Amino acid sequence: MGRQAVKDGMTTKQINKAVHDYIVKSGAKPSCLGYEGFPAAACVSVNDEVIHGIPGKRIVHNGDIVCIDLCATYKGFVGDCAGTYPVGEVSEEAKRLIEVTRQSFFEGLKFAKPGYRVFDIGGAVQDYVESHGFSVLRDYVGHGIGRGMHEAPEVPNYRPERHLFHQNPRLVKGMTICIEPMVCAGDYHVEVKRDGWTVVTADHSLGAHYENTILITDGEPEILTMAEDL
Ligand code: MF3
Ligand code: CO
Repeated sequence: MGRQAVKDGMTTKQINKAVHDYIVKSGAKPSCLGYEGFPAAACVSVNDEVIHGIPGKRIVHNGDIVCIDLCATYKGFVGDCAGTYPVGEVSEEAKRLIEVTRQSFFEGLKFAKPGYRVFDIGGAVQDYVESHGFSVLRDYVGHGIGRGMHEAPEVPNYRPERHLFHQNPRLVKGMTICIEPMVCAGDYHVEVKRDGWTVVTADHSLGAHYENTILITDGEPEILTMAEDL
């Protein structure tokens, strides 16, 4: 629904309304709304905004890229997913950023199974992203999920330093986690805007985000929030 709402002339608020209404109509709860004071169902982030954009009066135009990140709670459990979509025709760099970000999720997913540890996922994401000349955010990470939106463990999109290795649990059947690469076309340093939420790249290069909630099984992981045709 969010993806269909990403069209030239739409405000980020209208994009939010489309997903908000769909979540409510489906009998679920928009769990970002009110979370630590966040004022909307979805984070809508445009161009150099990587994550946590607050929907508002901003109009999106042809050539922009728009990330939609949202959570829904259904029967007590939370699902969390995000994607970045082009408005009309976008630059070659923007197209490549969107595709590399999306694919980096699937590169990480290859390690989301018993026999590996949480940091193996981020290592694969980082290698893939950097091999394409882009960078991964360090200041924000993926996470476990369940009855709460953010649960242990942290799921970084990079290989943490050695002193953090005690926070690197084995992956076991039944864990549900969010793998969510946050990627910058330039340098990975970010700043938070004066609204207290919106995370922008410090060098104002483009940012992209892609996320699904997944279940660790005995074999291949199951993607629980896949919002697109494969
Ligand atoms: N969906 C985001 C995540 O990936 C969280 C958004 S912050 C909120 O963890 F305040 F909007 F909920
Ligand atoms: Co998340």
